[in-house]
Amino acid sequence: MFVTAIDLGSSQIKGIVADVKKDGSIVAVKTVKKKSNGIKKGEVVDIDETVKTLFEVLSEIKHFDKRSIKNVIFSLSGAKSKFLVSRAGISIPRPDLEIIQEDVDRVIKESMAVNLPPGWQIIHSIPREFVIDDIEVDDSNVVGLSGRKLEANVILLPVFSGLYKNFIKVAGLVLGKKSGFDGSLIFAPLASDRSVLSKNQRELGVILIDIGFGTTSFIVYQDGKMLMAKVLPVGSGNITNDIAIGLKCSINTAEAIKLTFGCAFARDVSTKDKVDLAQFEEGQSTEVSRRYIAEIIEVRVREIFSMVNDELKALSKAGKLPAGVVICGGGAKAPGILDLAREEMKMPAQIGFPNISEFEISHAQITNELDDPEMAVAAGLILHKMDLLKKGGAYSYGSGVSYTLNEPWYKKFIRNLIPSD
Ligand SMILES: Nc1ncnc2c1ncn2[C@@H]1O[C@H](COP(=O)(O)OP(=O)(O)OP(=O)(O)O)[C@@H](O)[C@H]1O
Ligand SMILES: [Mg+2]
Repeated sequence: MFVTAIDLGSSQIKGIVADVKKDGSIVAVKTVKKKSNGIKKGEVVDIDETVKTLFEVLSEIKHFDKRSIKNVIFSLSGAKSKFLVSRAGISIPRPDLEIIQEDVDRVIKESMAVNLPPGWQIIHSIPREFVIDDIEVDDSNVVGLSGRKLEANVILLPVFSGLYKNFIKVAGLVLGKKSGFDGSLIFAPLASDRSVLSKNQRELGVILIDIGFGTTSFIVYQDGKMLMAKVLPVGSGNITNDIAIGLKCSINTAEAIKLTFGCAFARDVSTKDKVDLAQFEEGQSTEVSRRYIAEIIEVRVREIFSMVNDELKALSKAGKLPAGVVICGGGAKAPGILDLAREEMKMPAQIGFPNISEFEISHAQITNELDDPEMAVAAGLILHKMDLLKKGGAYSYGSGVSYTLNEPWYKKFIRNLIPSD
């Protein structure tokens, strides 16, 4: 059986095809990367453009093996999302007081009865702690335990419905009626979490920051509990814009300069190193110092870290996560990023690579392609989908809790969105 992950990024679509063997091993057989169009700051803003590009990606995947587009899982991103923790409680109605799955489902459903602004809808509900008769239980699986009262703190992730509808429309259109879209999607920060972080890091306390082109998302854990997951509408694309303005050059030149000579920690760069802009752009004769370019980059990356740190301050966790900062996404590849993260966030820092030991690799080239912080979301999507299939419905989450995608209504919703030809 094939499982295909599609990470719809603001600058690139990243895909992984995995061949899942009968013994449960996951063989990564293909990766795809294509420049994305129609996606801005993580959100679909132009349906036709996005469909066109995604269609090309899926055609390539289908060409590889027709069966590979039967099980497709997507990432969903965008700053129009919220992170809530809702508490709900129910009485166990049976005389034997033994908790059954229906009770768990009921308490989760009750937790979802929150007041959201009009046009927002919950895409994930993840039970974080269960409390039986006022005592918090360590076990994430409370089925079989006994008590009079079951309470749960449930993480709710609502997104703005416009963001969601555009995404569903695109997914439905590209997969077509035959293969169909089964609604498999994961909020992007949860996907990178699954492929990059270890249980130990989540226990100790950690923040995973994904610096993409249009967004920076992060997820925070301590004591194995998810404390926050959020998408900020700023990313490596802002650095490119800053360089274009600072050097008065085109966006393409600015991006090329960033990738070739960029450094996020200006003190690492000698003031004597010069870059001749003529090699990037005809008619440009200016020579600029590499230190100046690094200063432009540093200011923006510092701003991104300080925005994330403000969020940690609100959680009283700034500088207090022993496993520190883990950085993934394309932005993680900027030289000097770790020095800057350590200085700005006052914690240990490391680059986050997908844990490729969870995959078997069909050929060496795939190892190189997967072993890349940019692939964190796509790799996490495959692993999540596998968790889901293994558990037969409930997503098993990295920290051991399970969570469900709120399914019943979207099937009808998708039917309405997909043209009936
Ligand atoms: N060495 C580097 N220095 C700085 N930025 C880099 C480097 N390598 C890649 N990037 C940037 O990483 C970005 C692409 O990363 P990524 O694929 O994670 O973004 P995305 O998923 O498309 O965007 P988003 O997650 O925001 O929707 C590009 O902006 C690219 O310029
Ligand atoms: Mg991304």
